[in-house]
Amino acid sequence: MKTPPHFAEAEFGTMPSRRSALALAAAAVTGALVPAAAGEDDLSLSEAAAEKGLLFGAAVNSHLLEVPDYTEAVRRDSNVIVPEYELKRRDVEPRQGIFRFYGADRILQFAIGNKMSMRGHTLVWHESLPDWLSERLQSKPEEKLLTDYVGYLCKRYRGSIGSWDVVNEAVAPEQGRPDGLRATSPWLQAFGPGYLGTSFHAARDADPNALLVYNDYGVYASSPWHEARRRAVLNLCEKLVSEGAPIDAVGIQGHLRAYGRKIDEGGLSRFVSNLTGMGLRILVTEMDVQDTGGARSVLQRDQDVAAIAGQFLDVVLDNPKAIAVLTWGVSDLHSYLSVAPETRWPDGQLSRGLPLDREYRRKPLWYAIRRSLVSAPKRGGQR
Ligand code: G3I
Repeated sequence: MKTPPHFAEAEFGTMPSRRSALALAAAAVTGALVPAAAGEDDLSLSEAAAEKGLLFGAAVNSHLLEVPDYTEAVRRDSNVIVPEYELKRRDVEPRQGIFRFYGADRILQFAIGNKMSMRGHTLVWHESLPDWLSERLQSKPEEKLLTDYVGYLCKRYRGSIGSWDVVNEAVAPEQGRPDGLRATSPWLQAFGPGYLGTSFHAARDADPNALLVYNDYGVYASSPWHEARRRAVLNLCEKLVSEGAPIDAVGIQGHLRAYGRKIDEGGLSRFVSNLTGMGLRILVTEMDVQDTGGARSVLQRDQDVAAIAGQFLDVVLDNPKAIAVLTWGVSDLHSYLSVAPETRWPDGQLSRGLPLDREYRRKPLWYAIRRSLVSAPKRGGQR
């Protein structure tokens, strides 16, 4: 099966700007909910996305695909899914040469059965490495530890996984390298900056059609930290493109904070334009909204979460080369936000950073996402 048409190169026409729609979108989620446009009311998120030539979906867990409410929610709103952890190296190759694909294959089977695209996350990351690999990268680094693994997975899922996060989170300007790369990355320490191009070439050699993505976080807000990360990601991509590495797109993770830094609309818009100016496409790969530090009132928190997500999506989707939006989970019942020490509520209450609540009911965030999808400029015809 060739790469699903969704991820194929698409022709993009010139798109009208949507700044006026930003005001509308903001009004839509800050209390004065704008009534849904005619016919909009029954659109699911995947339908709203598809009408604009976009993909919309979520990260899923294989063990939850046995839960009817969960699978119904995924089916209703997704036309693309990605394993939250089943394709991470610690889960795939817990011991050298011993591979476990059950979870990822279960998700692939669900995607095929429901005519969805599937993303692969992630081939080369400094986290979620099995202990044996961390040790080998330090003691006896051989490039085949990188290239054989990337090649094996891309070959195994060729024609099934349409888009891979080939390298994840490779920048960390705060660590002081002039190139802004993550100095503590075991891959960088073992092989130098060349590991980035090597990873993309290994993926392309094994799969001629998949969309190859560089994925990262912390590029949306007004702060020196976010600005430095935007610069580092641009440097990384400029270098890969100039060296002829087969990078196709950049994934903006989109882990937002309702009560953190504000969205830097200009900075984010320029960042996206600079990337698409290199011929790269854009995906929002892991969107959710941390709501700790927020109002006690759930109603207010939900509105604040919806407002920042709508604002973020309006800026990114204003660029016609943004092709997909995925949230990092389906409902608040299963969100890493409520588990991770750095994002969970101290009193143990559930975070409300995903489109559906713990009962799989739509929240203002769900409607804000749909407003952004509905108001996004239509993408050009798909080849
Ligand atoms: O599967 C094991 C289970 O068998 C074991 O009993 C349990 C107890 O330790 O751990 C389970 O694995 C956990 C896995 O999630 C599945 O739940 C790992 O400990 C835990 O570290 C892992 O956390 C994931 C994290 O990435 C690290 O891989 C989160 O679910 C996942 O949401 C998070 O996602 C990352 C993206 O990949 C990259 N961008 C940031 C994002 C959020 O941190």
